[in-house]
Amino acid sequence: MGRKTFPKDFSWGVATASYQIEGAWEEDGKGESIWDRFSHIPGRIANQDTGDIACDHYHLFAQDVDLLAQLGVKWYRFSLSWPRVFPDGIGSPNPKGIQFYKDLIHKLLDKGIQPAVTLYHWDFPQKLQDRGGWANRESVEWFEQYTRYVFQELGDSVPLWITHNEPWVVAFLGHWVGVHAPGMKDFITALQVAHHLLLSHGKAVQAFRELGVKGEIGITLNMAYHYPGTDAPEDFEATKRAQEHVIHWFADPILKGEYPSFLYQWFQQKDLVRDFVQPGDLETICTPIDFLGVNYYTSHTIRHSPADWPLELKTIPTSRPRTEMGWEIYPEGLYDLLMTLTKEYGGPKIYITENGAAWNDLIDVRGEVEDPNRIDYLYRHLEQAHKAIEDGVHLAGYFLWSLMDNFEWAYGFTKRFGIVYVDYATQKRIIKKSGHWYKQVVAQNSCFGITV
Ligand code: FCB
Repeated sequence: MGRKTFPKDFSWGVATASYQIEGAWEEDGKGESIWDRFSHIPGRIANQDTGDIACDHYHLFAQDVDLLAQLGVKWYRFSLSWPRVFPDGIGSPNPKGIQFYKDLIHKLLDKGIQPAVTLYHWDFPQKLQDRGGWANRESVEWFEQYTRYVFQELGDSVPLWITHNEPWVVAFLGHWVGVHAPGMKDFITALQVAHHLLLSHGKAVQAFRELGVKGEIGITLNMAYHYPGTDAPEDFEATKRAQEHVIHWFADPILKGEYPSFLYQWFQQKDLVRDFVQPGDLETICTPIDFLGVNYYTSHTIRHSPADWPLELKTIPTSRPRTEMGWEIYPEGLYDLLMTLTKEYGGPKIYITENGAAWNDLIDVRGEVEDPNRIDYLYRHLEQAHKAIEDGVHLAGYFLWSLMDNFEWAYGFTKRFGIVYVDYATQKRIIKKSGHWYKQVVAQNSCFGITV
């Protein structure tokens, strides 16, 4: 009996993001980003780490592409640093900045690896932050100008485009909770930012179509699945708010052209909605996309909690195991999520654009890194993804987070997500056991019965 496989042409890849790996933060004409600024403020990042050097990928990219080839992956998802391409965010482009990405793409294609480009993975130009950042509606135009230039320069060689990575995180962790750049703490601003991100996404998709760029375009949303903590009606309602906040606040405008009414009204009652939605905005936001990108790591069990303004809910711990991030491991949540998206949005094409786990990896006496927990995590999630495909989900690909250990935002270098270990002192890369395992998964187009 043959082993169960994924669909023919399933896209297997790995993912990274510019600020987390590139380094070279002020080299070759690059402008400052909000993450450069934020990480340089004492106390913001664990151990005062910064992305100044990170994995030094800016200089080591050729060797990193060789590593991708060695792993046998067919796709590589990475992001562009907007201020590397436009040092001031708008105005004159930086020739050396765009050249770096052309060289990277050229090398990838040379090795038979398809590039998947994220246009915005959080490193916003500081010069434009000084003019209000995403809270300023002009940001929509700034983003559109940047994306038009990129489409013209790289459009011919990139088959898959992602406008934004996790706009929920940008809006709410960056402008409400304040643990991400630019470190603001204002809920009304966060809602406004979310809207401008959505609108800029729609404008970028329209520009993409207008310029006749080949390839597919979509957006990546972070999606945890939410379950009620008890049978009590108030816990059900709190769970609905959580689910609408994280998933539907973004997916509904994009795929249905409307904000989710239950939560919209809740925010209205709390007097948090300003007149940021202008006529025509929702039509722009729901310009048809080719796929929905899903980042899935964990699920949450929710209870009503009046003290937690403004959503009045909290995540309660369960007995499930957790990764090094403290995130609960619940692969079945991925299945529930994929089924829900398929049902709610009429079976869109979906890529899992991130999934992976941080563990406290160590190099052993043989100079190797054994990470059975990561293999277990990946296997269990792929198993659920496969089950979802069998049950009718149009899942076209899977991008593992991450190719290599990197700068994990507020956690700095304390969390390792890679299937390749990075020794930051020497920049040496070591393929972990999970890397060898994933190589087999890609080669066999299956996660079942793979041993390494
Ligand atoms: C996601 C981010 C990615 C990485 C993983 C662990 O939210 O998109 O950059 O930090 O989490």
